[in-house]
Amino acid sequence: MTNKEIRIAFEEYNHIDELPQPDKQLCLEAVKAMSGSHSPYSEFRVGAALRLKSGKILYGSNQENVAYPSGLCAERVALFNWSANHASDPIDCIAVTAHTDNFELLKPVTPCGACLQVFAECENIQGQAMDVILYCQKGQIWKTSGVQSFLPFLFFEDRLK
Ligand code: THU
Repeated sequence: MTNKEIRIAFEEYNHIDELPQPDKQLCLEAVKAMSGSHSPYSEFRVGAALRLKSGKILYGSNQENVAYPSGLCAERVALFNWSANHASDPIDCIAVTAHTDNFELLKPVTPCGACLQVFAECENIQGQAMDVILYCQKGQIWKTSGVQSFLPFLFFEDRLK
């Protein structure tokens, strides 16, 4: 038996001004995206902004439903828009942020497992990893490259072959 370990590398920034300008801008786009959130049940607004290789920005926000499981996270709203309408223009980076009036968010919101699975599918479609920025407006910012930072034991299509 051998003990093995996987380490996850990510960048941590204490303030948005420490980010390179295009990443800072993308965080601000994610803040804008929250304005489209439909979240009367959780009162938790999430915004996602994708920066495509062409420079185009796509937005997503969480869309809740009175039949709770019918709702969708901000990340998947943005990513499904990309795969449905813009898949020939690769995603360079996604920024995600959240806000609620009910308490102070002091840590970045991290994507749920179902969203990570969709990140993986999108990376597979475009044949390259995307950067992920998790932006906490009153706390730190975490930046990683690729869904494998979050899901190192992801099921890969090549295992089927
Ligand atoms: N939510 C997202 O949109 N993205 C995340 O990364 C975490 C959770 C949404 C789902 C639901 O509308 C609300 O936040 C509370 O879970």
